[in-house]
Amino acid sequence: MSDKKNTFYITTPIYYTSGHLHIGNSYTTVAADTMARYKRMCGYDVMMLTGTDEHGQKVERKAQEAGKTPEEFVDEIVADIKNIWEVLGIDYDKFIRTTDDYHVAAVQKIFQALYDKGEIYKSEYEGMYCSPCEAFWTQHQLVDGKCPDCGRPVEKAKEESYFFRLSKYQDKLIELLENNPDILQPAGRAAEMINNFLKPGLQDLCVSRTTIKWGISLPFDPKHIAYVWVDALSNYITALGYNSEDDSLMKKYWPADIHLVGKDIVRFHTIIWFAILMALDIELPKQVYGHGWLQMNGDKVSKSKASGAADIVDPIFLADHFGRDAIRYFLLREMPFGSDGEYTYDGLMTRINSDLANDLGNLVSRSAAMAVKYFDGKIPTARVAGEPDGDLLALIAETPKNAKPYMDSMSFSLALTEIFKLVSRANKYIDETAPWALAKDPAQTDRLATVMANLFEAIRVICNLLLPFMPDTCNKVLASFGASAVAWDACAEEGNLSGEICVTPCPVLFPRIDVKKEMAAVGLGEAEAPKPAKKEKKKKPAEPAPAAELAIEEFLNVDLSVAKVLECEAVENSEKLLKLKVSFGNEERQIVSGIAKSYAPADLVGHNVVVVKNLKPAVIFGLESFGMILASGQGENIHVLFADDSKPGDRIR
Ligand code: MSP
Repeated sequence: MSDKKNTFYITTPIYYTSGHLHIGNSYTTVAADTMARYKRMCGYDVMMLTGTDEHGQKVERKAQEAGKTPEEFVDEIVADIKNIWEVLGIDYDKFIRTTDDYHVAAVQKIFQALYDKGEIYKSEYEGMYCSPCEAFWTQHQLVDGKCPDCGRPVEKAKEESYFFRLSKYQDKLIELLENNPDILQPAGRAAEMINNFLKPGLQDLCVSRTTIKWGISLPFDPKHIAYVWVDALSNYITALGYNSEDDSLMKKYWPADIHLVGKDIVRFHTIIWFAILMALDIELPKQVYGHGWLQMNGDKVSKSKASGAADIVDPIFLADHFGRDAIRYFLLREMPFGSDGEYTYDGLMTRINSDLANDLGNLVSRSAAMAVKYFDGKIPTARVAGEPDGDLLALIAETPKNAKPYMDSMSFSLALTEIFKLVSRANKYIDETAPWALAKDPAQTDRLATVMANLFEAIRVICNLLLPFMPDTCNKVLASFGASAVAWDACAEEGNLSGEICVTPCPVLFPRIDVKKEMAAVGLGEAEAPKPAKKEKKKKPAEPAPAAELAIEEFLNVDLSVAKVLECEAVENSEKLLKLKVSFGNEERQIVSGIAKSYAPADLVGHNVVVVKNLKPAVIFGLESFGMILASGQGENIHVLFADDSKPGDRIR
C-alpha cells in the first residue's frame, strides 16, 4: 500500500470533548510536536495529526446539563483545545474532528466493509442498565454496584447490538507482539498486553448501541450508533483520506510511523485497532509508543486532584505564567523514558530555576553581556587557540550525535541530559578561561575573541538541538547573534559561525522564580525544600522472602546482560548511592545503584558487571536509572557479580 520514502507520520490520540484538558494530557501532544519538529530537522516530510473525539453518551449528557445541543457543546470545547495547542506552540499539520463530514462518511464505509466481510455480526449485548440515564454499564464500571453517573440502582438488561469478531485475532496479535518488539514501545508494554489481555482470552467486541444518539449511525442498520472507540481509532486513516475520493495522503504517509499514546490507552491501540486493521487488510502502523503518566502524589494528574489550586494543572495558566517553552521543557525533562513522572508546582518552578534560569539562561546572558562589554557586540575574526578549547569543541561536535539515538527513540529526558552536559561544559569554560581577566590585558584581545567565538559556537549548537523542545527561546537566541536553524546532523559542522559574530543583548530568557511567593499565590503555602535531593528513608533491611518457583519462560523474560562500567561517581548527599554509566557495546545507559558503602567508583570503572536490562526505569534520589546491577549481600557487605570474562552485551542465561 505504501510508497513511503522520506516521510514521517506521527499521531496523538484525539482528545475527549467531555471535559477540559490539564497539564497531564498536554504531555502527549507536546511530545508529538517535539518529535515532529526533530524529524523535520532531520529532513523528513512530516505529518503530525491531532484532533478531537466528540461522540458518545458522556458528551450527550454533559451538553444536556449545560442546556446546549451536542454540536454547540463540542464546538466550544474544540475551540478551547485548539487554543491550548496554540498557547503551547503545537505545530500540527492536521486537526481532525470525529464530527467532520468526511470522517463520518469514511467510518460508515469502514463499518460497511467489515459487515460485508462477515467481521461484524448481530447479537445481543447484556449489561447493567440504568434507565434514568439510558446507559449500559459493565460490572467493573459500576460504583458500589450502582450507576457511576447518577448513583441510582441498575438492573440486568439486554440490547440488540453488532459485534466485531475480535476473538478471532487473539493468536495473531500474540504472535505479532511477540515477534515484533518495535511495534509496541517502550519494551515491557507488549508483555503487559499479552499477559493481561490477550492470553486470558479475547471476547468479541460490542461495536454498536441503540441507546446512544450522539454518534455515527451504521449504514446497514441506522438505529445503531458506532462504538466510540472504533469511530475514534479510525481517525488515523480517515484523516489521510481513507475511503474518500482523494487518498493521496494515505498513499504518502500510511503506515503511521508512531501512534503516540498514554499507557492507559495502549490496549485500545494494539488490540482493537490492530485487529480492525487486520480485518480491513490495511498495513499496521510501525509503532505504538505508550508513554507514562504525569502524576500528582503517585496518581494520574487530574483537575479534581489539584484541589484549591486548580490553576496549577491548567496549561494556559502555566504557559502564561512561566512561558510555554518552560512548560514544554519541564514536561519532557520530567518524564523519563516511557515511565511516569511526578508533577508538583514547586518541582516545576525548581526545575525552571535550575536548568533554564541558572544553567541555560545564564550561559546566554553572560556570553551576550561579555560580547557587548568587551567588543561592543562585534566579536572579531582573529582567533588564538588555547586550553581548554579542545575539550569544549569536542563536546560541541559530539553532542548532536550523542543526543540523536535518544531523540530517535523518544527518550527526550535523556536527550536533554546530553544537551545540558554541553550547557554545563560551556558554563565551566567561562569559569576556566575567565574572559574578564583576559579583557584586562590588551595582548590577550585575540584570545578573548576566540573564547567568545567558542562560547557562541556552543550556544549555537545548544539552541539548534533545543529547537524541537523550546522553539521560541531558541529562535530568539539564535537570531540575537545572526545564527540560524540548521539540520540536526549538520548542526556542529565547522564553519557555521565563521567570520565576525554580531551579538545583540538578549532579553532575560527565563526570569528566576520566587518559589515561596508563587506557592503562596496559589494557596499552597510554604514551598517544599528544592527537589530532587529527597532524603533517603532509612529502612530496615528486609529478609528476602523465599523465592517462588519460576517457569523457564518466566526466567527468560528477565534480560540479564553483561555491561562494562564506563564512568562511576558518588551521588551527592547520599551515603549509599553510586551513579554509573555502563555500556552494552551498542548502547549506553545510566544506572543508580545502592552499593556505595561497599565499593568506591574506582573499584568498578573498567569492569564488567551483570545488569537486569529490562527492569522498568526508575527515578532514584532524583536521578534516572535504567536497569539494576546484580549483587549479593547488604550494606557494607555487598558483593557485585563481576563478569570480566564475558563480553559487554552478552545475554546471561
Ligand atoms: N479520546 C481518547 C483517545 C482516542 S485515540 C483514538 C482519550 N482521550 S483523553 O483526552 O482522555 O486523553 C488524551 C491523552 O492524554 C491520552 O494519551 C492519555 O493517555 C493522555 N493523558 C491523560 N492524562 C494524563 C496524564 N496525567 N499524564 C500523561 N498523559 C495523560 O483517551
